[in-house]
Amino acid sequence: MSIQVVVARPNFPEVIERLKQHFTVMDNQADKPWTPQSWQEALASADGAMTTGADLVTRDLLERSPRLRVCANMAVGFNNFDVPGMTAQGVIATNTPDVLTETTADFGFALLMATARRICESEHFLRAGSWREWRYDMFAGAEVHGSTLGLIGMGRIGQGIARRASKGFGMQVLYHNRSHLSPELEADCGARWVEKEALLREADHVLLVVPYSPATHHTIGAAELSLMKPTATLITLARGGIVDDAALAQAVKERRIAAAGLDVFDGEPVVHPALLEVPNVVLTPHIASATVKTRLAMANLAADNLISYFQHGRVLTPVNPEVLTAPQRRT
Ligand code: DGY
Repeated sequence: MSIQVVVARPNFPEVIERLKQHFTVMDNQADKPWTPQSWQEALASADGAMTTGADLVTRDLLERSPRLRVCANMAVGFNNFDVPGMTAQGVIATNTPDVLTETTADFGFALLMATARRICESEHFLRAGSWREWRYDMFAGAEVHGSTLGLIGMGRIGQGIARRASKGFGMQVLYHNRSHLSPELEADCGARWVEKEALLREADHVLLVVPYSPATHHTIGAAELSLMKPTATLITLARGGIVDDAALAQAVKERRIAAAGLDVFDGEPVVHPALLEVPNVVLTPHIASATVKTRLAMANLAADNLISYFQHGRVLTPVNPEVLTAPQRRT
C-alpha cells in the first residue's frame, strides 16, 4: 500500500511535486477550509501530515488516526500539536528551526523600527492626504540606536535580535529567560540577564520572542504593562496569547506606554477590535518568517522530515525524538 501524506495548506508547487515523487499526496492547493470532520477524515487515512502552525493535531484526532506516524510542522513553533499526546501515541512531531532564525530576527527589528519611529501611522496620515506642512513634532517617535532593548525569551531568534541591537545599533540589551546563556554567548550577543520586573522597568523597547505554553500565557498583562516606561514600546513576534491583547490595547490607548507592534494575536486571524482602533499600534499578519527564500527552506525542511522518516526511520528536526526509540512507536 502506498504511503499517504496530507498537506494541510497550500504550499510551493515544487515542494508538492517533491512529495509526490515519494508519496500519494492529498494536497490542498485550492486552500479549501477544513471542517473538523474533513480534517479528522484526512488524518485518519494518512501516514504522514505536513501542517502549519494553525492546523491542530489533538489527542482526540490522534486516537482516530491509527495510521499516522509523523506530523511535520512548517513552523518553528509547535503549540498546534499536542506533543505529550503524540509522544504517548508514538507519533513523531517535527518543526523547522534554524532556517528561519535570521529572517525572523530581521523582521523583529523591522517591527521595532516601524513601531518606535511611527512608520505605519505616518504613512496612513500621508495616504489620507493629511500632510500639509513640516512640523518639528510631526510623528516624533522614540530613539532606537543607543537605547535599551529588553528581550523576553532568548532562543535563537532572540539571540539574532540581540546581535543586531548591540552590534548594529549600539543598544544596551537586557534579557529574561528561564535559562541563562553561557558567558561566551552573552558576550557575543552583548546581552545581560535580568529579572523580568527589572527588564520591564528599564527597557525602552520590550520585545517578546518566548514560545507559547500554558506557563507563558499572558506573560504581559495589565500588571506588567504598568511597570513599563510611558515612553516605551512593546513588540511581539512570539505567539498569540503571550500578550493580553485587550490590556495592551488599553495601555496604548491611554498612553501608559507609547506604542506597540504585533505580528501574532490571540485567536488570530481575528484581531482584538480594540487593537484595530488605536493608531500607535503596528499590526502585521504573522509574517515574521515570510521571505520567499525562508518559506521555501521551511517547506523543504518539513518535506525532508517526511521523506527521511519514511525512507530511513529518522527525521532531521524532531520535537519529540524519544518517540523514535520508544516501544509505543507506531510502525
Ligand atoms: C513559526 O515558524 O513558528 C512561525 O510563527 C510561523 O508559524
